[in-house]
Amino acid sequence: MKFSELGLNDALLKAIKRSGFEEATPIQAETIPLALAGKDVIGQAQTGTGKTAAFGLPILQQLEKHNKSIQAIVVEPTRELAIQTQEELFRLGRDQHAHVQVVYGGADIGRQIKALKHAPAILVGTPGRLLDHLKRKTIDLSGVKTVVLDEADEMLDMGFIQDIESIFEYAENRKHTLLFSATMPKPILKIGEKFMHDPEIVRIKAKELTADLIDQYFVRAKEAEKFDIMCRLIDVQGPELAVVFGRTKRRVDELTHGLQARGYNAAGIHGDLSQARRMSVLKRFKSSKLDILVATDVAARGLDISGVTHVYNYDIPQDPDSYVHRIGRTGRAGQNGISVTFVTPNEIGYMRTIEQLTKKKMSPLRPPTDDQALHGQLKIAKAEIEKLLGGDLSKYEEDANELLDNYSAVDLVAAFLKNLSKDSTEVKVKITPEKPLPYKGTGRNHRGGRGGRDNNRRHGRFNRNFDRNERPRTRRGHGNGHDFVIKNKK
Ligand SMILES: Nc1ncnc2c1ncn2[C@@H]1O[C@H](COP(=O)(O)OP(=O)(O)OP(=O)(O)O)[C@@H](O)[C@H]1O
Ligand SMILES: [Mg+2]
Repeated sequence: MKFSELGLNDALLKAIKRSGFEEATPIQAETIPLALAGKDVIGQAQTGTGKTAAFGLPILQQLEKHNKSIQAIVVEPTRELAIQTQEELFRLGRDQHAHVQVVYGGADIGRQIKALKHAPAILVGTPGRLLDHLKRKTIDLSGVKTVVLDEADEMLDMGFIQDIESIFEYAENRKHTLLFSATMPKPILKIGEKFMHDPEIVRIKAKELTADLIDQYFVRAKEAEKFDIMCRLIDVQGPELAVVFGRTKRRVDELTHGLQARGYNAAGIHGDLSQARRMSVLKRFKSSKLDILVATDVAARGLDISGVTHVYNYDIPQDPDSYVHRIGRTGRAGQNGISVTFVTPNEIGYMRTIEQLTKKKMSPLRPPTDDQALHGQLKIAKAEIEKLLGGDLSKYEEDANELLDNYSAVDLVAAFLKNLSKDSTEVKVKITPEKPLPYKGTGRNHRGGRGGRDNNRRHGRFNRNFDRNERPRTRRGHGNGHDFVIKNKK
């Protein structure tokens, strides 16, 4: 459907055009008119289908120009996502000079307070920092008309719910509430409805819960084999940008160090790193100065980075919703993507639970053979040679001729290729084994049996090892607080 048919004003239509959006996505087409009509809306649609603009455009359209109070707030689960949303709303609201501010933890509160004095019309923030400001009375939500919970199921889950309840109390004069996410488990939906008035529920019907454009694979491997297999897969698949998800902070640190030791251009983010480091890593990844982002679930939700072609779940997520969001970092806005999930023999039950939720089977992928790995490495080596040939080589010519006098050209090139295409797994890397997820059967018999049935999907949430700096109550990471150095591929 065309954006011009949705009742949006000219300034917004201009911004949409500038963003390069040609047609509204289904979630936008269905929810924008409802939100413009002042309805409470619960919107669920696959990852990467433009939910941000679906709630952002109606908010922008409804802003009153001379109203000096905060008119809308958007609550986001992570700092990075809060920043990203602020940027997108700012971009879309540029022509109407909409003032959009972001507040999040780990940043200087004094500076935020100063900026808040400039009367933002829209405030985006993480729950902890929003509450902090509310308690200090540095923000006033009495004039707020719209409250948005992005990643609503996450926000209404046990780790955040108390904070969200308090925020809703401060925004008691709100006219409408919007909840958006790619996943919306029923019990959570019920909690959400308590804060809403007769909400319209828009679920974009798709065959699968995961984005259509992602080819999903799994590799069955023992814990100790996973790292070598992943490196070989990276060599063979040659991702443009890849995200590797690990279960704990220690995992992320070790995977990052291991990948760097093998010459990959990788860096990690998790909740124990300083905000400045998290932001600089993400910035490098967004600008393709970094090839591989290694992350805990702190990067699972909402992040929109174009060019992510592959997601590797080094550890299978315990919570099936988390799988949907993690792999949704690829296959966005019409692009294709590939996800590979490593499954140890006793985690097969978890894979089946994920498949039940997503209604899509992952295809088995064999670890690359030696030949395939070599082929992949040669491909990379040849690309590297092509790059080298672009430079000034005149000062090497004399020695090159001397070598050509003594050896055949084919032998010389073959030796060069051999050197360039070293098997990365020759560099030994030891990744500390994490405690495996508790055994829950093979997943074939979902009705009973030893640990079999997993209808209680929320169960996983209580155990998972979430890196969440704003959720000290549920924080159980293994982070050792060590920093690490970002190295470029030689
Ligand atoms: N109508 C559109 N046409 C083309 N691209 C769009 C359109 N709407 C949004 N986009 C772009 O699609 C990308 C994904 O959008 P967005 O991040 O809002 O997805 P999402 O549905 O919120 O995903 P997630 O569930 O992962 O949070 C962004 O780069 C956005 O600019
Ligand atoms: Mg989103």
